[in-house]
Amino acid sequence: MKFDNYMILEFPSRSTNEAFARSAVACFAAQMDPTLEELGDIRTAVSEAVTNCIVHAYPNEIGNITLRCRILKDNVLDIVIKDKGVGITDVEQARRPSFTTGGAERSGMGFTIMESFMTNFEVSSASGKGTTVHMRRKLQRRK
Ligand SMILES: Nc1ncnc2c1ncn2[C@@H]1O[C@H](COP(=O)(O)OP(=O)(O)OP(=O)(O)O)[C@@H](O)[C@H]1O
Ligand SMILES: [Mg+2]
Repeated sequence: MKFDNYMILEFPSRSTNEAFARSAVACFAAQMDPTLEELGDIRTAVSEAVTNCIVHAYPNEIGNITLRCRILKDNVLDIVIKDKGVGITDVEQARRPSFTTGGAERSGMGFTIMESFMTNFEVSSASGKGTTVHMRRKLQRRK
């Protein structure tokens, strides 16, 4: 597929990298001249996906997270966030609002938030192998 620009990041699943990842994506997306609302939605979706890698994918260890952003034609930002952690046995169940394996401090709304804030949203996962979240957001043209 033809694309205009991209960036790839790789970082360990340390909690400090959640803020780093969402800021890095926001900086990259700035060249698309997003509205503040669009930028806020993208930051939130990235934050939810990276937090899931930190909290769920690698519950007892520090593992790798990779993040790729591309700018596609028609002002679309494409984001892939991937881990090689524990994986999800039932993705459909995991995507349901309020489903969580995280106990009382989690609300089970991360996937629901990502899905509602982004234009396209897909999760693929294999138990013991890891999880990939692929999302896209089409931005308004302001020029
Ligand atoms: N990267 C991942 N690796 C392994 N399991 C995951 C991953 N992402 C999500 N999950 C599983 O899917 C469930 C739902 O994720 P979701 O983000 O919707 O809710 P949550 O993380 O449990 O709670 P919240 O995001 O509201 O704090 C998680 O509880 C976890 O079991
Ligand atoms: Mg979550």
